[in-house]
Amino acid sequence: MPHDRFGRRIHYLRISLTDACNMRCVYCMPEDQTFLPRKELMQDDEILTLVRLAAELGFDKIRLTGGEPTARAGIVDLVDAISSTPGVNSLSMTTNGVMLAKLAKPLAQAGLQRVNVSLDTLDPQRFERLTRRGSLQDVWAGIEAAQSAGLEPIKLNVVIVRGYNERDVSEIAALTRDRPWQVRFIEMMPFAGATELQMRGMVTHLETRALIESEMGLLEEVNGAELDGEARVYRIPGAAGTIGLISSITQPFCASCTRVRLTADGRLRLCLLREKEVDLLTPLREGISLDEIRQQMQDAIWQKPWGHGLAQEEIPLNRVMNQIGG
Ligand code: 5AD
Ligand code: SF4
Repeated sequence: MPHDRFGRRIHYLRISLTDACNMRCVYCMPEDQTFLPRKELMQDDEILTLVRLAAELGFDKIRLTGGEPTARAGIVDLVDAISSTPGVNSLSMTTNGVMLAKLAKPLAQAGLQRVNVSLDTLDPQRFERLTRRGSLQDVWAGIEAAQSAGLEPIKLNVVIVRGYNERDVSEIAALTRDRPWQVRFIEMMPFAGATELQMRGMVTHLETRALIESEMGLLEEVNGAELDGEARVYRIPGAAGTIGLISSITQPFCASCTRVRLTADGRLRLCLLREKEVDLLTPLREGISLDEIRQQMQDAIWQKPWGHGLAQEEIPLNRVMNQIGG
């Protein structure tokens, strides 16, 4: 299993399948965002080659992201092929949920195990304002389809943006009362594109927790609120599901990071919040041997930066969020 120079075991690969999306969430991209030409995106066979090399290095956990991963043509076959790659034990997807009503079942049959669905408000008007073109009804139908298809435990990703959806925090948290879901509140992070809103509208995990507790009473810690992946987990007393607080900005989890990302154009992105990337797609297209590409991956991982420099105002400006995949 690959290690970085800080001794972290890196075995979780997040792959952005496309930078394109059928929504334009205000915290993710500007309204007039343009997308990469198709030929610059990794093709299916290129993705599968890189997945196989990563699995050979010891990557056993894969998450498919976007843009919107379900917007990619042939997604079900691609999931099938990735899930059948020897060494890949865990395969999940982060999606906006719009296509899940149709795709949840075929994706589950193809070997997808779980989904995280973005849901920032339960109010149709505020949903439209936040996503600029999404339909809450479609997403809700998608979440229900995911549940029936067994893509569990369902996790909902919520980004709270000041002035947009603070008032929705408790209502979304309350979904966990009778559903075995994990609702995860994510501190908004700054990137290129929507940087100004991201800087000015971030709501900290402490504030989010206070908003929930002011309506629901004190939250219980689950496992002593130890980090579970990137989230600290809590529960409304007696609830079926849990609440995750992801404090990437105010309390980073870099020390326990196990992940790297593959961007839609085939660059290994070593830290979400650092600009450093290693191009794997160009050498692959140039016909360099697979042994060498595997070695380049391993060398890149060794160079993984310790963590982000947001406190020093080092904001990654080389890419918009949808190109990295969250
Ligand atoms: N900060 C934090 N999370 C973000 N996402 C998108 N943009 C941001 C941002 N600026 C999250 C969404 C989605 C996932 C793909 O990334 O919640 O679930
Ligand atoms: Fe699309 Fe997800 Fe970005 Fe929203 S957050 S615009 S759904 S990629």
